[in-house]
Amino acid sequence: MDKQTFDQLGGEQTFATIARVFYEGVKADPVLHEMYPEEDLSAAEERLRMFLVQYWGGPTEYQEKRGHPRLRMRHSPFKINPNAKQHWLAAMRNAVDAANLSEADDALVWDYFERAALAMVNTFED
Ligand code: HEM
Repeated sequence: MDKQTFDQLGGEQTFATIARVFYEGVKADPVLHEMYPEEDLSAAEERLRMFLVQYWGGPTEYQEKRGHPRLRMRHSPFKINPNAKQHWLAAMRNAVDAANLSEADDALVWDYFERAALAMVNTFED
């Protein structure tokens, strides 16, 4: 995405809110929480925030710190079945709500998350 999209979506603040509220949801959801390897989720929150900022046209700090996203590969250590995907999307739905986007911007962001989450499913086992 380009800088114009980033600004239209509310810039840094939007993605800081999404990442923060998403990880509050992870902590509150046992199915998700047990998947996250680190006890302290603040570094994971930071990685998600930087990734989203970069994806939506903001600064490329993610690339500088983490390299190419390769998200499917980075998720391969985790068993992401359709149930995990549903939990992830539920936590993300709350997070996107907290960003208070316009209807059109919400639809843009939400469509992306639904497609990206589907692409991250890597098993149909429990
Ligand atoms: C479908 C369900 C998903 C599950 C269960 C899941 C789970 C996880 C877990 C357990 C981690 C490791 C946490 C950490 O960084 O230490 C992680 C990392 C990450 N996830 Fe997901 N994820 C899902 C979907 C997604 C989607 C759709 C996106 C992007 C739109 C995403 C973006 C990220 C990013 C950016 C990282 C950090 C990558 C890195 O730099 O290491 N995830 N995810």
